[in-house]
Amino acid sequence: MNRPYIVCHMMTSLDGKITGPYMRTKAIKLPAQEYERTNSLYRPQAWLCGRVTTDENFTFYKKPMLDENAPAVPEGDYVAVSDAQMHYVSVDASGKIGWESNTLHYEDRPAAHVIEVLTDKASNAYRDFLRKMKISYIIAGKDQLDCQLAAEKLKALFKIETLMLSGGGFINWSFLQAGLVDELSLILAPLADGENKTSTLFEKSDFLPERAPVEFALKSVEKGQGDSIWLRYTVKNAPCQS
Ligand SMILES: NC(=O)c1ccc[n+]([C@@H]2O[C@H](COP(=O)([O-])OP(=O)(O)OC[C@H]3O[C@@H](n4cnc5c(N)ncnc54)[C@H](OP(=O)(O)O)[C@@H]3O)[C@@H](O)[C@H]2O)c1
Repeated sequence: MNRPYIVCHMMTSLDGKITGPYMRTKAIKLPAQEYERTNSLYRPQAWLCGRVTTDENFTFYKKPMLDENAPAVPEGDYVAVSDAQMHYVSVDASGKIGWESNTLHYEDRPAAHVIEVLTDKASNAYRDFLRKMKISYIIAGKDQLDCQLAAEKLKALFKIETLMLSGGGFINWSFLQAGLVDELSLILAPLADGENKTSTLFEKSDFLPERAPVEFALKSVEKGQGDSIWLRYTVKNAPCQS
């Protein structure tokens, strides 16, 4: 395969929410540990998140320090570090994220080298900013993300064999609708909060076409700590094929 094996690995409430007040309860602690434990069982070399997830959890909507007069950077992709043990892949189509380091530390995971996934619309000033920060970037798509090309480049340039697609809902659906999810790995936490404005596991961006629903085939069910359940599915029909 010319791309990594892609596992969509997520934790949800009983009503399929990936964020909201339930995430701030005491009862989420043990399911969250299960989420980390099961993540490591896949022995991934990378995890990938959407721009909102990165801003909410890691970069807190900080603006990048841009030099609008920077000389033109070389065309194409930029590999700052090619031998990292772990990578954090940040989808950031237009180049908004204000990184302060090229390394991300999260939970007990190995320190992760940051790779930004840009599209053609990311400015020269933003690419220059990433180069100065020694943050790798790949270009995949014109205005919207070309998920297939991004996946192929991640394997070719960074030797990523197993990639954990880790939310949020919009990036998850982008990969799923492109037929690029091999497995869904879900930690179901025994909580609900009734919120009606929070994202679910899969959310379609307005710019993506309507697709037929996706069917999954159950692979395994395991009871975990804190009354959580680990559900594993393979994808039966990628929506773009029907
Ligand atoms: N429970 C869990 O396991 C889990 C895991 C991860 C995240 N989360 C939570 O999920 C929430 C965020 O989820 P979300 O669904 O709102 O956002 P998201 O998927 O993290 O990010 C959405 C953004 O990603 C970019 N994007 C997505 N698809 C794209 C495409 N096809 N082409 C180009 N760009 C694309 C767009 O960025 P631009 O706006 O820059 O164009 C879009 O606004 C956070 O609260 C986070 O903490 C939960």
